[in-house]
Amino acid sequence: MKVALGVCGGIAAYKAAEIVRLLQERDLRVQVIMTDSAQEFVRPLTFAALSGEKVITGMFTAEAGAEPNIDSAIEHIAVAQSIDALLVAPATADVLAKFAQGIANDFLTTLYLATTAPVILAPAMNVNMWEHPATQQNLEVLRKRGVKIVEPGSGYLACGMTGPGRLAEGEAIVAAALEAMGISQDLAGETVLITAGPTREKIDPVRYLTNRSSGRMGYALAEAASRRGARVLLVSGPTSLKPPASAEFTSVQSAVEMKDAVLHLLPEASIVIKAAAVADYTLANPPDQKMKRTGTLALDLTPTADILAEIQRCKQDQIVIGFASETENVLGNARKKLAGNHKVGGRAARARLRGWISGETQAGFFPLLEVSPPDSPSCLFRCSPV
Ligand SMILES: Cc1cc2nc3c(=O)[nH]c(=O)nc-3n(C[C@H](O)[C@H](O)[C@H](O)COP(=O)(O)O)c2cc1C
Repeated sequence: MKVALGVCGGIAAYKAAEIVRLLQERDLRVQVIMTDSAQEFVRPLTFAALSGEKVITGMFTAEAGAEPNIDSAIEHIAVAQSIDALLVAPATADVLAKFAQGIANDFLTTLYLATTAPVILAPAMNVNMWEHPATQQNLEVLRKRGVKIVEPGSGYLACGMTGPGRLAEGEAIVAAALEAMGISQDLAGETVLITAGPTREKIDPVRYLTNRSSGRMGYALAEAASRRGARVLLVSGPTSLKPPASAEFTSVQSAVEMKDAVLHLLPEASIVIKAAAVADYTLANPPDQKMKRTGTLALDLTPTADILAEIQRCKQDQIVIGFASETENVLGNARKKLAGNHKVGGRAARARLRGWISGETQAGFFPLLEVSPPDSPSCLFRCSPV
């Protein structure tokens, strides 16, 4: 998900750097747009370095020094269509007036008119500017239009006066943006341990057994949990994916490494989601040297540990969610696995889990056993606290 962060020309412009970081902690991509005045206070480079994205500094500026072209001419429309929210922090009295009146004479004000995403404004200004009837009237117009205003705090202001006008705290601004995007913080206080990706079982120093898991399911769950306020511990086999910035990441190779990492982290977790595709078999005694081609070959495979069963043995009151990968009778086989191996939890745990899962269905996370992912051999099942 992506947030456009508009930064306007006020003393508090530097505080937008902290807001970029807080949004990134929620695994949101941030596209910064600076007004001309904002660039008098902070250099675009600060935001480019923090966000890892090109900062938009004007309506008619393409690459530095380059002529405007068709790409830059339609960029405001492209950004408008690609964002999940427009957040402006700090919002000046000037930009409030322009938004209220529909004036579109720079990138930010044009974007405001062009986007249908939720808009969140965090004003900051001198107390007299804030209390001026013109500003209050503009705010009223914007509120009536559905724009979320994050009220400024009260206190000593940079101009030397005391009163309302100070930019709200970064956490409050980000919370308002998340709420406007429909991302609740219902996992705040939870620590979610997620496994992802395949494992590699060594055959010899240059070969291994693995499977087709991409890791995308586990990484998407990690992002979603983090956005919803959880601390995320991600244990992953080898994938080509970039771990979510906010996840505490542990990289593993084999099934036994996966098991050790999971059991080590288990006491810290309140929720465990096992989305990794762990090998069922491993080579008992892989040779130290590369095997030569000598006719037919039989590999001596032994079963790996059932990590889910180990978790069941060691866990306290964690909610544990597993996946069953099936190629036939998807729901039936997964139900059998659930009924055969794992006990169903207490009422409180079930209620907590139900609320959590149902809230996530839109993001591609499927309710337990009731629906299986379309076009996928995977099926979610559950073992929860006794
Ligand atoms: C030093 C200084 C500080 C300013 N601080 C603020 C401020 O905190 N809030 C505000 O609304 N305007 C402030 N202004 C006025 C704005 O910079 C001015 O209205 C400008 O046109 C805003 O442009 P923008 O809305 O396109 O960013 C300040 C101006 C100066 C010179």
